Amino acid sequence: MTEEVAVIEGDGIGREVVPAAVRVLEATEVDLSFVEGEAGDAVADERGEPLPEETRDLAAGADATLFGAAGETAADVILPLREVVGSFANVRPARAYPGVDALHPGTDLVFVRENTEGVYAGIESEITDGVTTLTRVITEEASRRIAEYGFEYADANGYDVTVAHKANVMRTTDGQFLDAVAAVADERCADYDTALMDALATHLVMDPDEYGVVVCPNLAGDVLSDLAAGLVGGLGLLPSANVGEDNALFEPVHGTAPDIAGRGAANPTAAILSGAHLLEFLGYDREGDRVREAVRAVLSSGPRTPDLGGDAGTDAVTDAVVDHLD
Ligand code: NAI
Ligand code: MG
Repeated sequence: MTEEVAVIEGDGIGREVVPAAVRVLEATEVDLSFVEGEAGDAVADERGEPLPEETRDLAAGADATLFGAAGETAADVILPLREVVGSFANVRPARAYPGVDALHPGTDLVFVRENTEGVYAGIESEITDGVTTLTRVITEEASRRIAEYGFEYADANGYDVTVAHKANVMRTTDGQFLDAVAAVADERCADYDTALMDALATHLVMDPDEYGVVVCPNLAGDVLSDLAAGLVGGLGLLPSANVGEDNALFEPVHGTAPDIAGRGAANPTAAILSGAHLLEFLGYDREGDRVREAVRAVLSSGPRTPDLGGDAGTDAVTDAVVDHLD
């Protein structure tokens, strides 16, 4: 059965790394059909709307979506798109690879980030001149759901679980978050540790090998996973999956990289690995593994893009990954 994949390149290097990932997906010979949608700054300039209705519909109707990045309009594009696919978990693996400089070569972390609420619920206001507020939303339902997903993922992939929080200060919201996690752990007879998110930032840099799956409220997951990108060699390497019940969107963690966009020098690894997650989500586990192995081989032997100290372009790296698949 042909699976329909919505492809939304967006802006900047999204237009370079998404086509690279599509080439790799095509090379796996999985029966996929690609339908393209527009979103981001360029569409907003042209049409006054960063996420046109037809792009929303495309993502809602497809079996999965591959997204690149949007520029200044990112929040108006990616937050609604995550909602359109019903995603509640943002999964962000940060792994060290042979051949790529990492602070600690054994790093193998997976951030499971709550994706619908927290300080990203979008409830901000200006009370009066010079005074602004932000409401942090934490619900029992979303906290249970992310805990269930995190424990399930850790179980299936052989990781320990650490839960990041700041309940010593945000007593009511993160207090509820921790209570929900504890209830789910109890039901599943699962072990886990908790860590204050600020102290965890230090420990992740000094002893990343001590951690596996890190379950996080929304903002903490965003920040800590970018920190982990720095541990393993940069944003060019980190894929992500926005997972819902029966739909999902896959995207590199990085943005549009305006400093290098248009030069053909972007690292396609994060987008290609996002494609590997997409294959798994659609049930093609073996093909997802094949893509990961090909990426691993190319990272180890080269060619590599400039962010990893090499001098190869996006296309040369993608060619090498495709060659390894054959
Ligand atoms: P960024 O991730 O675009 O870039 C940060 C740094 O990492 C830059 O030096 C860039 O060159 C480098 N980098 C990122 N991806 C790379 C790759 N694949 N290969 C080689 N180097 C790479 O983050 P920044 O600069 O904070 O944001 C730039 C724009 O992207 C902003 O307009 C922001 O709003 C948007 N953005 C969009 C996101 C999304 O659509 N999900 C996520 C993050 C940022
Ligand atoms: Mg981010």
